[in-house]
Amino acid sequence: MADNLIAPSILSADFARLGEEVDNVLKAGADIVHFDVMDNHFVPNLTIGPLVCEALRKHGVTAPIDVHLMVNPVDRIIPDFAKAGATYITFHPEASLHIDRTLQMIKDLGCKAGLTFNPATPLHYLDHVMDKLDMILLMSVNPGFGGQSFIPSTLDKLRLVRKRIDESGFNIRLEVDGGVNAANIREIKAAGADTFVAGSAIFGKPDYKAVIDEMRAEMAK
Ligand code: DX5
Ligand code: ZN
Repeated sequence: MADNLIAPSILSADFARLGEEVDNVLKAGADIVHFDVMDNHFVPNLTIGPLVCEALRKHGVTAPIDVHLMVNPVDRIIPDFAKAGATYITFHPEASLHIDRTLQMIKDLGCKAGLTFNPATPLHYLDHVMDKLDMILLMSVNPGFGGQSFIPSTLDKLRLVRKRIDESGFNIRLEVDGGVNAANIREIKAAGADTFVAGSAIFGKPDYKAVIDEMRAEMAK
């Protein structure tokens, strides 16, 4: 399995100083930037779009940007994110009528493609698309807001998906998003995750490096 990646969610960053916040969290040891896109339709909140992704690239961010689309419909915004410099683009299967087509579109645009599962979304959406996936993202909260508590049933779901990935032989990252912190990251990793989104746990503390170091130390135990 590839290295464990820490993906701070900029949803909890100070938006008035976003470029600086992203620079600081990457300097503190983060691996990829988790970019939450909400449309006040698929989820009850409204955030940022392709212009902000492009602005981060223009600012000089070279780290992978992991775009988590919580929007419906999903297809028409994808080319704009590819153009804006997204590395990963993941979407929720409920937001696409043609999941295979959406995944293929992301790949054809040169990005890495992923499917995101809400806590109660069944895994059968994986059945015929494993060969098109670079990432599977399991939500460990109901999407829409940072700062919620990790839903424990995600651990069983992670174990199921880890098994499916390993049996498939494909190189697919397993990401978890919601309520991840230094106190629970070890058991989340043990359940099979290799990519860890953390918003409030990192941006809610003054010293980003201390939190990220603590997360890595917990995972190494
Ligand atoms: C929730 C978002 C998450 C969120 C995570 O809808 O997808 O990425 O920002 O925030 P924390 O880590 O605070 O739960
Ligand atoms: Zn997210």
